[in-house]
Amino acid sequence: MSGVGIIVGVETTCDETACAVVADGRKVLASAVASQVDLHARFGGVVPEIASRAHLEAVNAMIGRALDESGTGPSDVAAVAVAHQPGLIGSLLVGLMAAKALAWVWRVPLIGVNHIHAHAYAPALDDEPIDYPAAALIASGGHTSLYLCRSPTDLELLGATTDDAAGEAFDKVAAVLNLGYPGGPAIDRAATRGDPAAVPFPRALLKGQSLDFSFSGLKTAVLYHVRGTPGAVREGVARGVETLSERQVADVAASFQAALVDTLRIKLRRAARATGAATLIVGGGVAANTALRAAVEKLGRKIGAAVRMPAMKYCVDNAAMTAGLAWHHLRAGRTDDLKLAATATVRR
Ligand code: KG4
Ligand code: ZN
Repeated sequence: MSGVGIIVGVETTCDETACAVVADGRKVLASAVASQVDLHARFGGVVPEIASRAHLEAVNAMIGRALDESGTGPSDVAAVAVAHQPGLIGSLLVGLMAAKALAWVWRVPLIGVNHIHAHAYAPALDDEPIDYPAAALIASGGHTSLYLCRSPTDLELLGATTDDAAGEAFDKVAAVLNLGYPGGPAIDRAATRGDPAAVPFPRALLKGQSLDFSFSGLKTAVLYHVRGTPGAVREGVARGVETLSERQVADVAASFQAALVDTLRIKLRRAARATGAATLIVGGGVAANTALRAAVEKLGRKIGAAVRMPAMKYCVDNAAMTAGLAWHHLRAGRTDDLKLAATATVRR
C-alpha cells in the first residue's frame, strides 16, 4: 500500500490505549482500542497510576494490531500523530514516548494533536467532510467544552465546565443510584423506564449568555433527593437508595438526564446563535447518550443546522480521530520535533 497521506495515530490520554491508521484524513484503515474500564470499575472512576501502567502494557500491542490490520508498513507512513494534551500526565507520557519512538525509527514527522480538538473532528471519520463554521459540544468523563470550529485545526474555546464534567456527573449520580460504572450507559438505560418530569432538578445556566457549564449543583440536588438533606441526615431521618422503588430510581435517572441534557442543548443553541454556525457537532463519550442525540437532532432541525455526531466507536476515545486531524496539520505544514511535551491541562 502506498500513499502520501497515511498517518499512524496514538492515543493514551485517559483510560483507552489506542492506535489507528488513517488515510487522507478520513479513511480509517484500522482502529485498535484497548479499554481499561474493567480495571477502574471497582474504584468507581479512573485511577491515574493504574491507567498509566495499563497503557504501558497495551501500547505496543495496539500499535502492532493497527499496523497488521491495515497492512501498513513503515515506508507507507507519512507521519506519526499523538494526542499530547490534555489528559492524565502519566498516561499522556506513555503514548507520547511510543509515538516519538515510531517517528524517530521511521524518520517521519511527529504531530502533536489536542485530544479535545480531535473529538470535534471525529464525525468526519469514514464520512463526509464537515461543513464549517461549526459549533462543537465535546462532553466526556474528563471534559465538557464548547467550541467554534472554523476549520478542523482552527478552534476557539467558547465555554467549559467550571466544576464536574458531564460524564463525571453521570458517573457520580449512577454511583448514588447504585447503577454501576461507567454511569452514563447505566443511567441512559434506566431513564428509558422513568419519567423525565418526575423530579424538577435544577438547570444551571449561569449568568447572562454564559457558555460555561456547572454540574455540581445538579449532582448535589440528586444526592439530597435520594439520601435526604444534611439537616435530615443530622436528625437521623436520612434515606438511601435502597428505600426507593425501581420505578423511583428510574424516575430520578430520567429527571437527572433531562436536566443535564437540557443544559447542554441550551448552551449549544446559544453557541450556534452567537457564531452563526452551519453545523452542530457533538462528540466525546456522552455523545453516546440517547436523549442528548435526540435533543441535538431536534435542535438542528429547528435552527436549520446540519448535525454531525460520530459513529459510536468514534464518540469514545480512539486514535483514528487523532490521526485524521493530524492529516490537516500535516497539509498545513505544522509538525513537531522530538522535544514535544505532554501537557495535562490546556484551556483553549
Ligand atoms: O470520551 P470517553 O470515553 O472518555 C473520556 O472521559 O475521555 O467518555 C467516557 C464518559 C463516561 O463518563 C461515561 O459515563 C460517559 O462518557 N458515557 C455516557 C454514555 N456512554 C458513555 N454518558 C451518558 N450516556 C451514555 N450513553
Ligand atoms: Zn476523550
